[in-house]
Amino acid sequence: MKSIASAPGKIILFGEHFVVYGIKAILCSIDKRITATSQFLDEKIIRVRSSLGDSVMDLNSLNNLENVPQKFMKPFFYIAQKAIEENSTKQGIEIVLESEIPTGVGLGSSSAACVAATASVNGLFVRLTKDEIVKKAIEAERTIFEQNSGADSSVSTFGGLMLYDLKNGFQNISSRNDLNFIIANSAQVHDTQDVVRQVRNFKEKNEDIFRKLCEQEVEIVNNATIALKKNDLNQLGSLMLKNYELLKQIGISTEKIDLLVREAKKTSYGAKITGAGGGGCIISLVDNSNMKNTLDSLRKLSDCFLAKIDYKGLLYS
Ligand code: MEV
Repeated sequence: MKSIASAPGKIILFGEHFVVYGIKAILCSIDKRITATSQFLDEKIIRVRSSLGDSVMDLNSLNNLENVPQKFMKPFFYIAQKAIEENSTKQGIEIVLESEIPTGVGLGSSSAACVAATASVNGLFVRLTKDEIVKKAIEAERTIFEQNSGADSSVSTFGGLMLYDLKNGFQNISSRNDLNFIIANSAQVHDTQDVVRQVRNFKEKNEDIFRKLCEQEVEIVNNATIALKKNDLNQLGSLMLKNYELLKQIGISTEKIDLLVREAKKTSYGAKITGAGGGGCIISLVDNSNMKNTLDSLRKLSDCFLAKIDYKGLLYS
């Protein structure tokens, strides 16, 4: 028996990094997915296979996850270990991950993988609710990224466009906007945890400045919520550019990112870093009137693709 589940990647429209300190963020899932396929094995092992490599652990050594051969694999062994423990089984499990989401560039591939793997592994025993899955997926991701706000896993599980903050969790945005983004990849791979740590250092050295930046972010998110209700693309684009300026001030932009935003700004409604930054991707808001021109100019500088909002979230197949 195979248990298959898929979960979408995400982009952050407003509020990355500030969300770690309690500010609301606006994010959406995108139409690019990771699929996890799990099955029982006769051997007493957990095997994880992905395009980034394969990894195997003995069932007996699962209680010491510090020994996981590749750090990024730790959440998947954790997910398997919990499911084995909770369902009192001694069977081995194989998890295969197949992804359409570029990794390490701010598009939520690691959270989507945790969500899909949680649903797929637990689905071998029982189908959990989305609330149960998101809780377990965040726990799993925190084994390698402790300060993770949970925003990425939440949007990947529930799908759509949402507001998220640490205290209240996620809140759906009911306008169900049909937005089009061009995602341009700087090809500068980052480690989200390192960039989050770098921002924490900035905050600790510049408490006053950081507080003012948080206030500006709150205003941007409030105005963006209103702009989404009116589907005002001009206003959304200009708020994205404002948000990008704040992200530059906390030190997470790069020359390549600045170049991509400058180029995108010429033809689109607006552009900004999405996700952790320190490289990664930019998003640029477009519609049919400026999509082609923006794509043509960004393609000269980077790998890019079109993305729409995914309103499905986690799916079983
Ligand atoms: C990463 O996609 C978003 C950050 O705000 C970190 C987080 O929310 O966990 C940088």
